[in-house]
Amino acid sequence: MKILGIESSCDETAASVVEDGTKILSNVVVSQIDIFAEYGGVIPEVAARSHLEAILPVIDKALKDANSTWDDIDAIAVTHAPGLLGSLLIGTLTARTLAILHNKPLYATHHLKSHVYANWLEGSTDISFPILALVISGGHTQILYMKKHNDFKIIGTTTDDAIGECFDKVAKILGLPYPGGPSIAKAAEKGNPEKYKFPHPKTAEPLNFSFSGLKTAVLRAVQKDCGLPISHPSHDLKNHLTEAQINDFAASFQKTAIDILLEKLNLAKEQYEVRSILFAGGVSANSALREKAKDAYFPSPKFSGDNGAMVAAAAYFEIKDGKQPTDPYTLNIYPRIEIN
Ligand SMILES: Nc1ncnc2c1ncn2[C@@H]1O[C@H](COP(=O)(O)OP(=O)(O)OP(=O)(O)O)[C@@H](O)[C@H]1O
Ligand SMILES: [Mg+2]
Repeated sequence: MKILGIESSCDETAASVVEDGTKILSNVVVSQIDIFAEYGGVIPEVAARSHLEAILPVIDKALKDANSTWDDIDAIAVTHAPGLLGSLLIGTLTARTLAILHNKPLYATHHLKSHVYANWLEGSTDISFPILALVISGGHTQILYMKKHNDFKIIGTTTDDAIGECFDKVAKILGLPYPGGPSIAKAAEKGNPEKYKFPHPKTAEPLNFSFSGLKTAVLRAVQKDCGLPISHPSHDLKNHLTEAQINDFAASFQKTAIDILLEKLNLAKEQYEVRSILFAGGVSANSALREKAKDAYFPSPKFSGDNGAMVAAAAYFEIKDGKQPTDPYTLNIYPRIEIN
């Protein structure tokens, strides 16, 4: 079964043709990183306009790269939740129109489910249930318990910032370029992870996360190290930091963030007997984390971030479980809705 997966929930316009949920025939991603590097973050209205410009050429290229025509496509899958409202609208309206035009069944998928299913791409067939899946992305930090395919129970979630957001905000404090995750990872390679000690936040629910305190702890430590008062504006701190300090702060922050993740994972493992551990979402590209969690599954780094292949994979496993297509005339978007 060949599915065209379309993704546009944040700042990547992506489309991919995937056969039987695992075999990638094409994968086209147009990122808006260059646009938002200047601003240090995503501007929703600009993101939506960029999706509008890119989406049809991206889909066209995905079909061409897969040596496919519309006749070869069995279904269209599209992200309808969660994400930026304008961004979701462009992807879903395009998918709805194409489904009607080419008379294809349309499947709406949840973005976090897609991140999890990136682990099945490229033929990782030895993943066995039950599973603990850690979704660590720009907007989410969740521990999911999966008894079987398409059966998700949220057993831990962030009570404030997402881990990816924390990487991005700490990078901003250190004056490292957007997106912060890869910049921190690169600087951390040259830094000392033991130089600064940051607290591991306590949460009322032990499996929940809190990252806003860690971000503030880095801010205070930078101000202190630079001999500046806590009222000193964060945007100016980069002018006071040496390269060695930046690298050490990046390494120490990254180590703390990874240690927190692994501590929560170990707690979850005590409570839930599982046979596989999966990581998913943009932060799962982090090589220091991959090094420390050797027994876990990770998507290939190019499928950690947003892409259309994971959308097609998620839809495939839902269809296999009997999911029915959505009416293209009424498909709705849900900017904020939990995975279920
Ligand atoms: N090597 C890395 N190390 C740490 N973080 C990383 C790395 N590469 C990317 N990231 C982070 O991953 C995040 C982007 O991931 P992703 O694209 O999955 O998020 P999103 O789609 O914006 O949010 P969500 O999936 O929650 O809706 C950013 O915060 C980015 O900094
Ligand atoms: Mg994402």
